[in-house]
Amino acid sequence: MIPRISLFPLTTEISKDGHLVIGGCDTIALANEYGTPLYLFDEHTLRSMCREFKSEFGQRHEEVMVIFASKAFLNRAVANIFKEEGIGLDVVSAGEFSIAKSVDFPADMIYLHGNNKSVDELRMALKNHIARIVIDSFDELKLLAKLAEESGHIPDILLRITPGIDPHTHKHITTGTVGSKFGFPLFDADRAVSQALATASLNLIGLHCHIGSLITETQPYVETIEVMLDFADKMNKKYGFELEELDIGGGFPVRYTVNSPNIKISQFAEAIISRLISKCNALDMPLPSLTIEPGRAMVARSGVALYRVGMTKNISELKHYVSVDGGMADNIRPALYGAEYEAILANKASDEDTEPVTVAGKFCESADILIQEIKLPPVIAGDIIAVPVCGAYCVPMSSNYNASLKPIIVMVKEGKARIIRKREILQDLIRNDLL
Ligand SMILES: Cc1ncc(COP(=O)(O)O)c(C=O)c1O
Repeated sequence: MIPRISLFPLTTEISKDGHLVIGGCDTIALANEYGTPLYLFDEHTLRSMCREFKSEFGQRHEEVMVIFASKAFLNRAVANIFKEEGIGLDVVSAGEFSIAKSVDFPADMIYLHGNNKSVDELRMALKNHIARIVIDSFDELKLLAKLAEESGHIPDILLRITPGIDPHTHKHITTGTVGSKFGFPLFDADRAVSQALATASLNLIGLHCHIGSLITETQPYVETIEVMLDFADKMNKKYGFELEELDIGGGFPVRYTVNSPNIKISQFAEAIISRLISKCNALDMPLPSLTIEPGRAMVARSGVALYRVGMTKNISELKHYVSVDGGMADNIRPALYGAEYEAILANKASDEDTEPVTVAGKFCESADILIQEIKLPPVIAGDIIAVPVCGAYCVPMSSNYNASLKPIIVMVKEGKARIIRKREILQDLIRNDLL
């Protein structure tokens, strides 16, 4: 077990008056100035994660491309930081692409994913000469071949393969097992390679896979490398296919709670790259470049949600509800798949945690419980609850449920805070409605 505070961003401290301070900014002052719910991102932690991924993988292999899976959280300010850090982007929609484009993100560092890309999205990718289009199905292979021929641009493509590996994670975030809606199952992948190779308007560069998310062991990645390289070798012998690039997707874990396993990025880098090298040697195959697509692990820890406590309710000796001004509309993860979180009472961060409480959201669903049970100092209305590790898959999955307003997002750095997304206003809720 580790102290809760160590789940928060790297710059987190507790001030003399017991306030939680992140990026040099007092979180209580932030909550008072900007209102709650408030999502804050710590720029130092975000940049540190970019550098850690690049250096841990890059020092073990000369050709590594780190691309951020935008679905975890994309915003113009964040895209700009990735651009400055030399990290690429994986986008899955015209929307994510347009956010990237709005900050002049280099197109040759953008990958397009998705199991149902529209004609417009494929045309957009062709027109902008993005780095890779990751093909998910035979229908898409055919469609892209036709669109590419019309456009006169030959795109570099990867084929997404389902390697049939069970990453031992939650079933909603497992994607690499046979029967998944994503990619070509291995038994069909042979035909996909031969068709892609035979299509003059497409340039098959390599293979992609993504086996799941929150993978807390290195072994599933090692098995994936084995399967993917064996397959590439088979394709080489059969069709002369040369694997220039292997993209193994994302899935790297973060610690959400004090009991979460702690596996370092360096351990993943070591396990993955050493097996990549040894397997290539064993197969007498040239070493392909390696692409990784971390989403959650890149942004989760830099993000913190701040909520203000409203009503509190004692149901019995055992159940003490503390209700906050956000919940499932800004963070669906606990309701969707039982995700667990910790919290700190940000205005009493030095006080002892003595009272077991249930932190409830304000939305009209019984499932809207952010934290089932946690010990906090005595909580009263007006206190600020800070929930760590909220930087990934919270804001992007947020909704306007109960006609709530999506939260403000603030970036903190060296004692300064800047708004990177405004809070929605009531007018936003009716802007697109017609009578
Ligand atoms: C293709 C692909 N790459 C990368 C990711 C990022 O996964 P994670 O956030 O677990 O790193 C996902 C997540 O769904 C994905 O589908």
